[in-house]
Amino acid sequence: MTAPSARPAHASFNPFDAAYLADPYPQLAESPAAFYAPELDMWVLTRFDDLDAVFRDPVTYSASIVQDPLFPLSQAARAELGPDFPLPRTMSNADPPDHSRIRRINLQAFSARRTAALEPRVRVAAAELIDALPTTGSFDLVAGLSHPLPAFMIFALIGFPAADTELLKSWCGDRMAFSWGHPEPAEQLEIAGKMRRYWEYCTRFVAGRIAEPCDDFTSDLVRIHLADPGQLSPLEITSIAYGLSFAGHETTTNLTSNAIRRLLENRDQWDALCADPALIPNAVEEVLRYDTSVIAWRRRTTRAVRVGDTDIPAGARLLLMLGSAGRDAARFPDPERFDVHREDAGRHLAFGKGIHFCLGAPLARMEVRIVLELLTAAAPDLELVGDQRLDFPPNVSFRGPSQLWLRRGARA
Ligand code: HEM
Repeated sequence: MTAPSARPAHASFNPFDAAYLADPYPQLAESPAAFYAPELDMWVLTRFDDLDAVFRDPVTYSASIVQDPLFPLSQAARAELGPDFPLPRTMSNADPPDHSRIRRINLQAFSARRTAALEPRVRVAAAELIDALPTTGSFDLVAGLSHPLPAFMIFALIGFPAADTELLKSWCGDRMAFSWGHPEPAEQLEIAGKMRRYWEYCTRFVAGRIAEPCDDFTSDLVRIHLADPGQLSPLEITSIAYGLSFAGHETTTNLTSNAIRRLLENRDQWDALCADPALIPNAVEEVLRYDTSVIAWRRRTTRAVRVGDTDIPAGARLLLMLGSAGRDAARFPDPERFDVHREDAGRHLAFGKGIHFCLGAPLARMEVRIVLELLTAAAPDLELVGDQRLDFPPNVSFRGPSQLWLRRGARA
């Protein structure tokens, strides 16, 4: 436990509560800037400026815990994971100097050239999926488009064989519950076995690329390793492939679904994009501000700090509420209004900031932009199916509906 004797407890904060999962924003709006959440044994920070300061100070706020299971694992689950776990910290959960070295290498391999080169493939893949959506009756956008598109793109970028897509997708879903959810011991054990197989899969895959590099992101990393083995080890490459295959997937699935949901709920905004596709890039920023897909991220204090008038001890785990930072009235005027014309929409913290700024931000932005370009052109009459209850997977960080039911409307 990390809490000091005097703490401003906020006992009602439970991110696994059904009402919070359905709509966390009213509760977050009423929350203090910083408070201790006993259910999580974490300190929760909700204001834009405080999060901004945390992201800018990686010495005081270590990223080491961001991938760890939120709650302690059972002994059986730990044993099932095998001797390779915990995995080497490579990027999002590494601190300098290791982070600086690995990030620099990733920036070389994750170049603007490789991201831009993906755009035609994203366009073709998105167009195929959109063409296959039913024109009569209702359909689930998550199953038909928002889930398969980012999965296909990130696995293709890494170089995973297309035939393994379904297997990888299911492992990624389990990983969300494992590290950011609250699985029961039996579920922990089952997922631990899958995580071990997922890791073993990545290990075999990287060994194959070392034996025979080709034209993909992993092979770029392998070439850096082969040129200077001291720069990047095979274990680190494996950890990067394991990390990216998750980071590049659920995040963008959820952002795509959140974007379509919010635009169709605010019909005038959807119609504005149909009439003027030049608004789409700013609309993507507005979704990242208003309904981001990574609603919370983590840090650990390396020394005692004061946030506002709250004292937080050294070694405390922090939950940084990116979702409420995007709706902080001190930063965004009229923050509860969803507005694709908002001038400062892009000043959100949805991709973090500083040394850990999201490596996949250009790819995520591109994927959602292309989906909106194609969908507004192909189906301007799209509507939400009325009276649907949206379900959100129970976890603290990744937020998007499990299903989103749509249909073509009367204007077809
Ligand atoms: C809408 C989609 C996405 C959102 C909202 C998002 C959000 C974030 C956030 C909040 C962070 C942590 C920043 C910090 O700690 O300061 C992060 C880091 C990261 N993201 Fe994303 N992300 C998205 C898509 C992607 C994609 C598509 C990829 C890969 C292709 C990716 C790869 C990464 C990596 C590797 C890091 C760690 C970077 C580092 O530690 O240096 N993300 N992302």
